[in-house]
Amino acid sequence: MQNTDEKKMQIAALVAVDGVSEEEIASYIMLPPDNSLGDYALPCFRLAKTLRKSPQAIAEELKAAVLSRPNPFSAVEAVNGYLNFKFDRTASAGKLLSEVLEKGSGYGSGDEGEGKTVCIDYSSINIAKPFHIGHLSSTVIGAALYRMYLKRGYKPVGINHLGDWGTQFGKLIVAYKKWGNDEDIEREGVLALTKIYVRFHEEAETHPELEDEARAWFKRIEDGDPEAMRLYKLFKEKTLAEVGKVYDRLGIKFDSYNGEAFYNDKMAPILERLESQNLITVSDGAKIVDLKEWGMSPCLLVKADGATLYATRDLAAAFYRKKTYDFYKSLYVVAYQQNLHFKQLFKVIELMGESWYKDMVHVPFGMVSLEDGTMSTRKGKVVWLKDVLDRAVEKAGEIIREKNEKLADAASVAEQVGVGSVVFFALSNNRIKDIVFSYDKVLNFDGETAPYVQYTNARAQSLLKKAGGIASLKETPLSEEELKTLEGREGEELVALLSRFGETVADALAKYEPSVVTRYVIDVARSFNRYYLAHRIINAPEKERRAGIALTYAVHVVLEEGLRLIGVRAPEEM
Ligand code: ARG
Repeated sequence: MQNTDEKKMQIAALVAVDGVSEEEIASYIMLPPDNSLGDYALPCFRLAKTLRKSPQAIAEELKAAVLSRPNPFSAVEAVNGYLNFKFDRTASAGKLLSEVLEKGSGYGSGDEGEGKTVCIDYSSINIAKPFHIGHLSSTVIGAALYRMYLKRGYKPVGINHLGDWGTQFGKLIVAYKKWGNDEDIEREGVLALTKIYVRFHEEAETHPELEDEARAWFKRIEDGDPEAMRLYKLFKEKTLAEVGKVYDRLGIKFDSYNGEAFYNDKMAPILERLESQNLITVSDGAKIVDLKEWGMSPCLLVKADGATLYATRDLAAAFYRKKTYDFYKSLYVVAYQQNLHFKQLFKVIELMGESWYKDMVHVPFGMVSLEDGTMSTRKGKVVWLKDVLDRAVEKAGEIIREKNEKLADAASVAEQVGVGSVVFFALSNNRIKDIVFSYDKVLNFDGETAPYVQYTNARAQSLLKKAGGIASLKETPLSEEELKTLEGREGEELVALLSRFGETVADALAKYEPSVVTRYVIDVARSFNRYYLAHRIINAPEKERRAGIALTYAVHVVLEEGLRLIGVRAPEEM
């Protein structure tokens, strides 16, 4: 199916204005806000200066010219200085429905990514620290981009760049030796680690010698001392087992868990190269790359005591990824607080003369907080993602039971709706915005929410079941006469919207913005509900019935697939 850009070019070629390129005309063409006016519109005031005529006169002339040539339009109209184009609706509907029937969930796929590998660094949690609601965005944005890349033919590589190295592990060992034990860790998991870690910081205020002990223990980890390693591994295992459960609920997998520690032996050659390229400056004993010229603070790579840093590891990781995956793009889905870090990182790689610095992209996002402000870590009141999911599932269960007492498998549906509502919410807005989470908002069945879309999809599926499925549609294609019955405002709007699924996914990728797809599935659900209110489907007269069912099927396919892409499951019944 042609996408919007191709259609714009097709129109521009037919319009042909002397002295204005087709590309330029195509760039003026827009989608009218109300599609009863047409599918595309050319605002002629953009041409008034070149042609020295009024926009309406230009529109009239261009209309005559277009209609004098063979064209794919069912109507061309000049209204208020706009030239409006309507494509043949029956043909568009026929194309859409036959394609969806043929491809099923493969509808909307693309191949523009063929042969292109995209590394996505996302979630990237820290060991021995809670998986709190702050990690939600990175996790769900990264996973959504991953699925969308796959759908458009790319080869994504999902990387969980674990925060599994640093002096905090020395502190944890000291804390563990003083106040911790294996039973607590067995029982409470990461929570037990967080508790003793917090205690370490409290006690270190009055007993600064604890910091020296911590440094000594971290040194023992670095030296591979067996006891230090046993504890280090224990902390890592426990954390991964716990976050693994959350990832399972979210349906998320990673191709690599190579975290910071993985790069321990990979920094030296890069530091040597930086030295030989004269990019290193020594400042108070520390090795830095001076970035003053670009208005940035220096990138600190080796401290005076010889310790490497977060940035050193990221530098090694960037080179490792280039060498291992030969990426087309390498994304970092990380909060905007790290804007400077990534700007510095990319600049250093540019200064090293690597042209692929241009292919590295920081995909930043805003903060998620809870309505009552409980997000604040300073008060020690961290909100655990697992608890948020549990509470959302519990509330979803209550609502579902109220709505449908007889629902089979209500527990599984509650899990799908509850978890789905949290994910959907995190992907509803432009990612850079700070957002405030509330259970009532994300679970509002009439709002712009997962349950609203899930419910609409379940309704479509129940209609299809009542209609006896789509076998007859697959056997006998819809006739021209049947397709014509979809004409009218609601049907046409739905056809136009559903036809744009694939390009919507591509657009989301171009902007690294999964919310484009979230907004889109809301629009499809709304549009279908309008259609459903205005038209009979099952009980429609025979000649309308099949077209209505085919359209319902297309809605179901696009909703289910759209939800899948953003990481939300679609229960068959609700
Ligand atoms: N672990 C880091 C944090 O929680 C995020 C790491 C992001 N990835 C990276 N390659 N720097 O802040």
